[in-house]
Amino acid sequence: MSRIAYVNGRYPLHRDAMVHIEDRGYQFADGVYEVCEVARGYIIDMTRHLDRLARSLSELQIGWPVDRNALVAIMREVVRRNRVHDGLVYLQVTRGVARRDHVFPSADTRPSLVVTARRSDPQVARARAGEGISVITVPENRWERVDIKSVGLLPNVLARQKAKEEGAAEAWFVDPDGYVKEGAATNAWIVTADGVLVTRPADFGILRGITRTTVMDVAAAQGLKVEERGFSVEEAKNAREAFITAATTLVMPVVRIDGTTVANGHPGSVSLALRDAFFDAAEKTPV
Ligand code: PDD
Repeated sequence: MSRIAYVNGRYPLHRDAMVHIEDRGYQFADGVYEVCEVARGYIIDMTRHLDRLARSLSELQIGWPVDRNALVAIMREVVRRNRVHDGLVYLQVTRGVARRDHVFPSADTRPSLVVTARRSDPQVARARAGEGISVITVPENRWERVDIKSVGLLPNVLARQKAKEEGAAEAWFVDPDGYVKEGAATNAWIVTADGVLVTRPADFGILRGITRTTVMDVAAAQGLKVEERGFSVEEAKNAREAFITAATTLVMPVVRIDGTTVANGHPGSVSLALRDAFFDAAEKTPV
């Protein structure tokens, strides 16, 4: 089966899908994106993802390429055409195509919209969660507006590559005071000795992850306490559990930080219980 993409009103074959060389996403990273999980034939937490998209667009003064209902229809269509039962749907909106100039193009420039979908194997993810992953830490070197889900991800790319080279699956950005901010493409959490979930506040300095928000709902339903505060790398290494969250990983236990084993080196029960309960708690839009 050939993969299909969506590009500005058309559904080309994925291998032929293109945007213009003067697309501002290509030239300036002048665009934003979202990644939604697809699980068991549903798009997960679509409302929250589109609310965050609305915020990202508004912060950058980029218009909607199509209205919100049309975007929902396109996302579902791309998932359907690619017969994705489990996987992800990616969408990207840029300020559009215009002669290269740093200032915004004229108001009639149409934002570009690209949507793709791809499958992934939930059993592989489950096996990975059963093992847990390693993370490394790197100094924060991103701009201040990482609350905007911009496609400008070079520091994230370099951090994730460094993690890979060091045998880890994620890199945590650490602020100058030694506090963990978030991963290259995930939010960071720990569980304290008292069973309290700790994650950094998302008002600024990190992306407000949708998985993070839904995990807070799950935690509340399980009677777990959540503290939104900073935690240091040292505290994380000594925590009862650590984990990351993202639409691509869900709740993924962390068992090693910079080579130091967390607890007994196995995924913790709190992390795994949150992972198990996630699907039921999330919003599910049939494809
Ligand atoms: N990344 N922090 C950063 C920097 C991210 O890029 C992401 C998501 C998250 C988690 O957000 P959410 O729970 O909404 O997926 C946190 C996506 C998955 C990516 O870039 O592929």
